[in-house]
Amino acid sequence: MKLTFHARSLVQAEGDALVVGGYAEEKRLSPPVAALDRQLNGLLSEVLRSEKFEGKPEQVAYVHTAGRLPAKRVLVVGLGKRKELDAERVRRAAASALRRCRDLGVKIVSAALLGDGLSPRIRAQALAEGALLGTYTFDRYKREKNSKAVEELRVVDPQRRQEAPVKDGLRLGELFAEAACFARDLVNEPANEVTPTYLAKVAEQIAKEGRLRCRIYDRVDCQRMGMGAYLGVARGSQEPPKFIHLTYAPRARVRRRIAIVGKGITFDSGGLDLKTAEGMLRMKDDMSGAAAVLAIMRSLRKLGLPLEVHGIIAATENMPSGTAQRPGDIVRAMNGSTIEIGNTDAEGRLTLADALAYAAKEVRPQEIIDLATLTGAIVVALGNLCSGVMWNEKPLADRVVAAATAAGERMWPLPLIDEYKELLKSEVADLNNVGPRGGGALTAGLFLREFAGALPWVHLDIAGTAFTEKDLPLGPKGGTGVGVRTLLTYLIREARR
Ligand code: BES
Ligand code: ZN
Ligand code: ZN
Repeated sequence: MKLTFHARSLVQAEGDALVVGGYAEEKRLSPPVAALDRQLNGLLSEVLRSEKFEGKPEQVAYVHTAGRLPAKRVLVVGLGKRKELDAERVRRAAASALRRCRDLGVKIVSAALLGDGLSPRIRAQALAEGALLGTYTFDRYKREKNSKAVEELRVVDPQRRQEAPVKDGLRLGELFAEAACFARDLVNEPANEVTPTYLAKVAEQIAKEGRLRCRIYDRVDCQRMGMGAYLGVARGSQEPPKFIHLTYAPRARVRRRIAIVGKGITFDSGGLDLKTAEGMLRMKDDMSGAAAVLAIMRSLRKLGLPLEVHGIIAATENMPSGTAQRPGDIVRAMNGSTIEIGNTDAEGRLTLADALAYAAKEVRPQEIIDLATLTGAIVVALGNLCSGVMWNEKPLADRVVAAATAAGERMWPLPLIDEYKELLKSEVADLNNVGPRGGGALTAGLFLREFAGALPWVHLDIAGTAFTEKDLPLGPKGGTGVGVRTLLTYLIREARR
């Protein structure tokens, strides 16, 4: 979908459909929409009445203009109550409007800059994100493809001076949405395709395209570095593990060094502590953190931020076999800590332990952010629409949560209570990799905290949000790309700070 700016009024807008917004609880149409209605001799307001259009978020109604306007149709999308309007309302409105346009077979869409009150740049970005995220599909493996697609979205605004901020917003919205959809694709691809080796190849491709540094460590390299926790998980699989380290270094003077670490279990069977059939079914999504890291790294050259950013992924499968790690085994992580394997299904924290220890030792960043589909417990706590946030430095967590809010991704703080560290005690090693069922997301967070050492660190548990079993306002069933837009927003803000 091509995104363009057209300086003209709505009554002059061309295209197969013209998208405008309608607010809830307002008797009158907004002035530019009322102007369209006059051109249509009141047909629009009549149809909105008979269709019971109430302006509820994402509600859609449309009319054919029969030659009374240059645009072939006018489609009104609900924005909810005017006083509740925010960027997320605009994203969702754009998503449902563009989905309807696509299903109608529309090729060229003109759209008003939805959402008065917000800045033109924010409105344009939200419009672009909503349009692109909302019409995402994954049909690579289906004979029957969705052949309908909107080809062009023209943002129509009468004010020429809006052109620069609108174009900026569209460009950023497009970049954000493309990044999130890149992550979605990686999550939606099955685990027989997306292996650790595949992720390493994707990383190398990204490095080539974006002029990033890329190092891939194989099993022997990781052994030399002492990554016993990560390699213990990899033992059961026929697929060789790949430890991925991408570096974006800007041309400009480096203000800060940030490491982002993603959980990269390309399939989580549970290992010898095998999952149930139901529990295993979706476990191709256990590399969603890695997918987000790759998507972010892929966007950095285009953004040109004055930050040094390191993307780190300890990729492996978690499989049962004759060579698999056993419950009761003891492994040693790169930072020297020994870990008793209480449960082979708590593998994410083992791979992240070495990824975090590697970041702390080899990268020495000012801060580390990890994204991981880490625990079923976070799904119990927050459900599927909200990720969990844990940290060892509150101001850093506050900035990440603020970025999430701006990006429209829900993230909620959880307490890493020091006393709960008791729950990870082992009789025979420094740590056990599991605690009791209660507070499972927190003990997982506390486990990771040990490996971040003294560095400021934030952990995002995305087990509930990385994959959706039902269609959402901004995307269909499948991988969501969660974390990508939050962290891109975060990095842009950090570059200005
Ligand atoms: N990958 C899972 C967590 C998960 C659960 C992600 C549900 C997405 C949906 C993780 O490796 C895991 O298996 N965690 C166990 C830990 C337990 C054995 C302490 C869990 O949460 O059940
Ligand atoms: Zn597991
Ligand atoms: Zn897992």
